[in-house]
Amino acid sequence: MVGIALNGIQKSFGETRVLNSIDLQIEEGEFLTLVGPSGCGKSTLLRIISGLEAQSAGSVTIGDRPVDGVRASDRDLAMVFQSYALYPHLTVRENMMTPLRMRDLGFWQRLPLIGRFLPGASGKLEGMRKQVNETAEVLKIEALLERKPGQLSGGQRQRAALGRAMVRRPVAFLMDEPLSNLDAALRVHMRAELTELHRRLNTTFIYVTHDQAEALTMSTRVAVMMDGDILQLDTPTNVYSDPANLRVASFVGSPKINVLDGRLDRDGVVTVMNHRLQRRVPGATPQAVKVGLRPEHLRLVPEISGLGEYVGTVRHLEHLGSDVYLHVVLSDGTTTAIVRSDPDHAMGIGHGDTVRIAETRGAAMIFDAAGDRLPFEPVSESAPVSSKTQEVA
Ligand SMILES: Nc1ncnc2c1ncn2[C@@H]1O[C@H](COP(=O)(O)OP(=O)(O)OP(=O)(O)O)[C@@H](O)[C@H]1O
Ligand SMILES: [Mg+2]
Repeated sequence: MVGIALNGIQKSFGETRVLNSIDLQIEEGEFLTLVGPSGCGKSTLLRIISGLEAQSAGSVTIGDRPVDGVRASDRDLAMVFQSYALYPHLTVRENMMTPLRMRDLGFWQRLPLIGRFLPGASGKLEGMRKQVNETAEVLKIEALLERKPGQLSGGQRQRAALGRAMVRRPVAFLMDEPLSNLDAALRVHMRAELTELHRRLNTTFIYVTHDQAEALTMSTRVAVMMDGDILQLDTPTNVYSDPANLRVASFVGSPKINVLDGRLDRDGVVTVMNHRLQRRVPGATPQAVKVGLRPEHLRLVPEISGLGEYVGTVRHLEHLGSDVYLHVVLSDGTTTAIVRSDPDHAMGIGHGDTVRIAETRGAAMIFDAAGDRLPFEPVSESAPVSSKTQEVA
């Protein structure tokens, strides 16, 4: 197990800068995911770590060893790509043997037919076969070893590709969207398998995806990238519930966070659609702000109750079995909010209906005009506050 450190990594293709200046410490044994929209530079960064691409500036250290100028094949890393890159004419066993043959056998020993009779070759081959069998057992692909890639399903092919990467016992795995060719159900299944594999191998994984759900479910930490920068490096829970800025908040979460226009006054009070939020922005300067509320922090309240902070008209309903998402145009006529509801509460509500919506107190996040998150704190009272009041504030 080794950690990997990136210091000031920059990359330009001609005039185009794709990585600005990336600093990143990847801990030993960590499952770190680089996630971000298409074109933000994830694959480029992974290829720089692997040595397949050279950085324009900055340095990569693997363990204690600076690897700038070290060839990809000498970095002791394993790459797994979206396209499995298995040799179609070789069986799974032969595919898995290939990296070992390249590493452990000399040129003459690798020759077909006569190579295996040369001194030392047969012992090495025996060791390699053992390694392949052990790896196949971990991945549960023993029964597939004699098949060729064309005779495998997508998931089996992906496991074979993982097997080929694993046999060398690399110091870290680098994976670039390895699940994106699989159908939705298999992808979810393979997520669980990769998590389990990571736990079992206890090796550093660096995983690239543009799928935030994949990032949140598997990772120890997530680096959210946009336009060649890491905007936030944090645990999956924190990037979701404590995003550093509006871009991270909007990228992470499905359906997306609702963003409402608000007004911050000099007392730190935020007003959104004539409704004053409970918390305060400390040391505030009056300005226009964006108010972020996740769909699960909004709920329907009965219309006759007169409760609820927002009123709107239902434009669309998404029935997902356990949840219903209502797309509601709010009373300003332009803002659409998505509200999560359980099917019982949404029963009988249809397109065009007027609904009242309440927010979970204290759940709103406030962002300034640049999209940076502003602190938003419960009102401190001089008198002791009961724990119940603190909870809802
Ligand atoms: N060899 C290259 N020459 C020129 N531009 C390149 C090259 N490789 C990548 N780019 C550009 O660099 C930017 C980042 O590309 P990269 O492949 O790293 O994105 P990504 O985040 O992996 O996207 P995706 O999610 O679509 O795979 C893109 O704008 C891309 O067009
Ligand atoms: Mg990519």
